[in-house]
Amino acid sequence: MRIYFDHNATTPVAPEVADAVLQALTSDFGNASSVHHFGQRAKARLDEARSEVAALIGGEPSEVVFTSGGTESDNFALRGVAEALEPTGRKHLVASAIEHEAVLVTLRALARRGWRTTLLPVDATGIVKPETLAEALADDTALVSVMHANNEIGTIQPIAELAALAHARGALFHTDAVQSVAKILVAVRELGVDLLSLSAHKFNGPKGAGALWIKRGTRIIAHMTGGKHERTRRAGTENVPGIVGLGVAAKLASKKLQADQGRLRELRDRLEAGVLARVAGTAVNGQLEPRVPNTTNISFDGIEAESLLIALDLEGIAVSTGSACSSGTLEPSHVLRAMGLPAHRTQNSIRMSLGAGNTIEQVDDVLAKLPPIVEKLRSLTRRRELQPR
Ligand SMILES: Cc1ncc(COP(=O)(O)O)c(C=O)c1O
Repeated sequence: MRIYFDHNATTPVAPEVADAVLQALTSDFGNASSVHHFGQRAKARLDEARSEVAALIGGEPSEVVFTSGGTESDNFALRGVAEALEPTGRKHLVASAIEHEAVLVTLRALARRGWRTTLLPVDATGIVKPETLAEALADDTALVSVMHANNEIGTIQPIAELAALAHARGALFHTDAVQSVAKILVAVRELGVDLLSLSAHKFNGPKGAGALWIKRGTRIIAHMTGGKHERTRRAGTENVPGIVGLGVAAKLASKKLQADQGRLRELRDRLEAGVLARVAGTAVNGQLEPRVPNTTNISFDGIEAESLLIALDLEGIAVSTGSACSSGTLEPSHVLRAMGLPAHRTQNSIRMSLGAGNTIEQVDDVLAKLPPIVEKLRSLTRRRELQPR
């Protein structure tokens, strides 16, 4: 039996979601823009999904724009606001140094096209201090983008405080909430943001479906142009099966959030405490609280994260060395580097992220298998170091 501890990379689709997607692929196959019965049935399914997503984050259905996922939502927010505010002379964009590549690379692309950009440093626990943002803001700041929960370490940023600072200088605020939605309560009005990204496959929905929540009245230009879909905010025939899947996943999350949160926190804390107690030379990376309840990121002295990942995989245990996009390369984590961790710790850390199917037995199984694997890897490293060159 394989153990999946990599839910921040992606999650398995819930059976209720799979059933709904299948129905949308077969019975409700119409084009939601068509006037006839088939089209209207598809349109009704989109409307249901829009209401479920809005309910999950405390927004209005009309504020939800469906996209192909987190990456597109981040691109839409940054490029759409940058372009909309360009004529006003606001040509400064701000983001944290620990954002997902979907934000960081987009920011770099905008910098090449003439926008001034600032990357906010984080402290040793991975948090953007409000005073750091206050110093970075300028009269021409158009948009600030700071993620809600970090995908590698799970730490939660003080979004409400940061958004208030941005607004005080006339800037808009976007948060990438791909890793917090459905893990903790996310309420757009309480966060005080203008735009929020989410992605279905991070909470038991299908891949290739997500949304950008855009507060009513926010100035933004469509990045995808064509037909009048999504109230002309995102052209293209809607991915009805994907969106239906997103809607059902959102509905399930709204129902289960409270219970799942507590259960996952218990499992994660047992796992984390167990590793720290049984394996010497280990430390948790990032602020412990507030943190999403399913994530732990731990460094192991004297080993390389990739070797540990492979050794665990051979034992049937799936973990990650950080963000999925950088796996397969030996690049140190940009998140851990931004926190100022010493070089060896940016390369010896693994992320374990739990989800709906995980059990206490699985946690205990990992706790039994991990210590001898780490010991073996360390002794191999020691032997290699002792060998004459
Ligand atoms: C914080 C964050 N933002 C954005 C994304 C991208 O989302 P998607 O895979 O839906 O494009 C991810 C996925 O890893 C993420 O963790």
